[in-house]
Amino acid sequence: MALERTLSILKPDCLQSGAIGQVVARLEAAGLKPVAMRMHQLTTSEAEGFYAVHRERPFFRSLVSYMTSGPVVLMALEGDNAVAKNREVMGATDPAKAAPGTIRRDFAKSIEANTVHGSDSTDNAKIEIAYFFRATELVKYDVKR
Ligand code: CMP
Repeated sequence: MALERTLSILKPDCLQSGAIGQVVARLEAAGLKPVAMRMHQLTTSEAEGFYAVHRERPFFRSLVSYMTSGPVVLMALEGDNAVAKNREVMGATDPAKAAPGTIRRDFAKSIEANTVHGSDSTDNAKIEIAYFFRATELVKYDVKR
């Protein structure tokens, strides 16, 4: 198994649902260890840059507006196959299509206010983590259960 890192964002609806703790608990239970974590209010230009790949999509302006509508929690998660594992625990982008027991199925309000973001590849994970965190902000510790 490959030890990987991935970027996770707890979106404004997650904070407004009072679900930070529940979502982080699910990630940790899945073996995804937060190695960097920060609360943040995204600016419009930060959100536009982060989601630049979606710039031509019809939902882009609404997505930027939503992601800047309230604070988020930024996290770098580390674990075996962290990118795929995080996406499995999150569930499908559209909560109506997300599998039972996934974060989006249980907490998300809509395809836009879908509670969490997770990197979609190891290459993008590196880019996305570097977008928000300096290398010196990533910590090391062992989890012993
Ligand atoms: P995320 O995983 O952060 O990546 C892009 C985001 O765009 C997605 O989650 C949703 O919040 C948002 N979005 C809004 N509408 C759509 C759509 N129709 N398809 C995909 N993503 C959408």
